Amino acid sequence: MKTLRSKIFIFISLLLILPAIPLSYFTMQLLDKSYSIGVNDRVESALDGALNLSAEYYRLQKERLNSEIEEQTQKNEFSHDEIIKELKSEFKNIDVLISLKEHIQKDNQLVNPGLISKFLKENKQNIIWPSADRTVLFALSQIKKNSILQVRYNLPMVFKEGAPQIQEINQIYKTLGLVRGNIRNSFLYTFLLIYGIGLILALSISYFISKKITRPIEELKEATTKIGQGDLDYKIDVGGKDEFSGLANAFNNMTGELQTNQQQILQLEKMATWQQLARRLAHEIKNPLTPIQLMAQQMRDTYKGDDQAYKKMLDECSEIIEDEVGSLKNLVKEFSDFARLPEFNPEKQNIAALISTIKKLYLQANIETVLPDGPVELSFDYDHLKRVLINLVDNALAASGENSPVRIELAKKENGVEIFVSDQGEGISSENVKKIFEPYFSTKRSGVGLGLAIVKKIIEEHGGKISVESDLGEGTVFKISLFLE
Ligand SMILES: Nc1ncnc2c1ncn2[C@@H]1O[C@H](COP(=O)(O)OP(=O)(O)OP(=O)(O)O)[C@@H](O)[C@H]1O
Ligand SMILES: [Mg+2]
Repeated sequence: MKTLRSKIFIFISLLLILPAIPLSYFTMQLLDKSYSIGVNDRVESALDGALNLSAEYYRLQKERLNSEIEEQTQKNEFSHDEIIKELKSEFKNIDVLISLKEHIQKDNQLVNPGLISKFLKENKQNIIWPSADRTVLFALSQIKKNSILQVRYNLPMVFKEGAPQIQEINQIYKTLGLVRGNIRNSFLYTFLLIYGIGLILALSISYFISKKITRPIEELKEATTKIGQGDLDYKIDVGGKDEFSGLANAFNNMTGELQTNQQQILQLEKMATWQQLARRLAHEIKNPLTPIQLMAQQMRDTYKGDDQAYKKMLDECSEIIEDEVGSLKNLVKEFSDFARLPEFNPEKQNIAALISTIKKLYLQANIETVLPDGPVELSFDYDHLKRVLINLVDNALAASGENSPVRIELAKKENGVEIFVSDQGEGISSENVKKIFEPYFSTKRSGVGLGLAIVKKIIEEHGGKISVESDLGEGTVFKISLFLE
């Protein structure tokens, strides 16, 4: 059974694990492919090119501005306005301001006055620098002795928008290239983790399912072994309402039937043994009885003497011998009857009529009958069942006081009939109740103890059941159940 469970478990597990191998392979392939579409050498060199181009453009703009400022500021003959005009005509989006050095802290300036002061302190001629995002160029230049030129050149819009994006994309791209292996691995690990958890769950479920499937089979196997060893009382625990419970139920019913049949066979075997013994005894006892009886008669008849006392004794003795031989003959008859039960011949007939007949047999006794209206048809052997009822009524009368009532009740049932024979007699002790159906069990001085053994045998021949309920001092009820075929 363990192997069946393992087989189911392995089968379900393989069903779960096998698809994961091609699935993970194809997923990794797909991941690599989609990665290589975006992250490859061509894209990288194109992005590098764009970055270089923007850097070159920026450098050129800076150089151009620088040389233009140098050129303009060195022309001594140029007035401030002319310098401003020249620069504005050369560059679009340029702001130019020329202010007196001493007014720097007071007036509005293009560049932070602190920076200008620092520039003057270091005593430089020209300086040019970009804003933090490299979209604006600032420049300072000393003109003559007392003036300073301030320039704010906004680089063209296209460069302004494109350059940071190129930078950013390049940055992202570089990062992507660097973490390529990491992403692949983290994807793989996440996949394996989720799959692993799912797998553990699925394996636990498959273990549970395989156990659930095989448990009833294991129980059935154990029950079969136990029953094979003769333990017919063993029952399978029936739980739930599935097919296995149905099977377990059928199995339990089967063992129940088997047990009943076995008990009946045992009973019949016992009866057969007793019948054989009864036949032997009857035979052995019967043979010498007639010669004993004849000898006793002869002894009495052939005495011709005058001894009256002796003659009287002979008469008495032969009478006793004849009486005892008579009782022995009765006993032998009982034995023979028991040994040769007539053949079982069931016929469909009215069972109520039989009960009425029984009542007529006991006119002197107080027999009550309770019968349903109309005939009650059932298949039974008339003589056999008559014998059963006579035995039960005889016993009931023997146990009851004079004129105490004995009742025979017939009740119709869905699947047959029930007959109750009850009395208000002495009752049977619980210890004796177990033995009364055994052959030769009797508590009566003159009883043979065969009555109820025969009753049980006949009822079982009819496929029926007999049971007894009794209370000492209260009375006894025998219940016979007979079934329709
Ligand atoms: N209705 C009853 N009330 C009390 N005891 C009973 C009753 N029926 C049977 N018994 C008990 O069961 C015993 C067995 O009964 P069974 O009919 O087999 O044998 P028996 O009556 O003793 O002898 P016989 O073979 O002559 O019938 C009786 O001896 C008696 O003790
Ligand atoms: Mg009896």
